[in-house]
Amino acid sequence: MRLNIAVLPGDGIGPEVISEAAKVIRAVAEKFDHEVAITQYPIGGNAVDDFGSPLPEATITGCLASGAVLLGAVGGPQYDKNPRGLKPEDGLLGLRKALQAFANLRPVIVYDELIAASPLKPELVKGCDLLIVRELLGGLYFSTPRGFEEENGQTKRAFNTLSYTVAEIERIAHVAFKAAEKRRGKVASVDKANVLESSQLWRQVVERVAKDYPKVALEHILVDNCAMQLVREPRRFDVVLAENLFGDILSDEAAVISGSIGMLPSASLGGPVGLYEPIHGSAPDIAGTGKANPLGTIASAALMLRYAFNLEEEARAIENAIREALAQGLRTADLAGGSATISTAEMGDAVCQATLGKRPTAGEA
Ligand code: IPM
Ligand code: MG
Repeated sequence: MRLNIAVLPGDGIGPEVISEAAKVIRAVAEKFDHEVAITQYPIGGNAVDDFGSPLPEATITGCLASGAVLLGAVGGPQYDKNPRGLKPEDGLLGLRKALQAFANLRPVIVYDELIAASPLKPELVKGCDLLIVRELLGGLYFSTPRGFEEENGQTKRAFNTLSYTVAEIERIAHVAFKAAEKRRGKVASVDKANVLESSQLWRQVVERVAKDYPKVALEHILVDNCAMQLVREPRRFDVVLAENLFGDILSDEAAVISGSIGMLPSASLGGPVGLYEPIHGSAPDIAGTGKANPLGTIASAALMLRYAFNLEEEARAIENAIREALAQGLRTADLAGGSATISTAEMGDAVCQATLGKRPTAGEA
């Protein structure tokens, strides 16, 4: 099979983690006899610097012409004061929109080897396995009106809108229930229905969609309570369904369960081409130091093989290789907790070796 992949390294540690993921993709392609065509495109702050836009037209065209998009991270403090439209994050949001990627899947898995890396008690996190289904194209991120209100040349007010249509809620709810059917059959739908109209509608619509999935148990949970339960009793969760901003916040919190935000991958689906990216940011403070953890990006590459190319065995090969590298005691700085660490590239190499090392013999593949 030919794997036609658009790769968007982005800013900060993005390029470093992306090059490790690219190595691993090439290794798994070699092992399973696939052809890889990787084309790089600019996005984020560096694209503003070089092309005057965080999302150049050629990037959108290239992504839409590919079989899947793998992205590193965008952003950096030097761009903080950029006006709207010229922020690195606008590039990412614009890309999500261009790809119609409304369903963001963020699996949170606790590897036994990393239980000690979580600040939570081992008995709380052991065996935890949940999936955050985050709505990605609505809510505060995209609704209008939004903006600043000026008076006599001074900003007097700033405002955003949290709006959801029935159709937007329905389509993301279906994704969550379908995922739950293949998992442990539970959906926790997150809202703030005690205060917000958009959440009241969210609750009603999710309730209605739930009727199509009689085998899935639905609970509604207020976002503040969900934030507490995620660290109090994370194993009670199977699928967590949330609107855009709630999902953004809860997924960073859930990363703590896994030991490090550097571990978590994501897949953004729903449109013609899927977008795969780690959930962490560009971490400008450690960019270029070799301290970044590439495993979230490598795990995103595994999700890409699974969802974009339907290559389940290849995806598992990468996930097993990640597990094996961890089992060998290999740790990047974020996971170390006092023990010796290896660099971003060494971790990438270790995963490649583990991927290749388990080459199946003829007939087995
Ligand atoms: C994420 C990030 C992005 C988001 C930022 C970089 C715009 O935090 O993917 O979680 O808020 O969606
Ligand atoms: Mg985030």
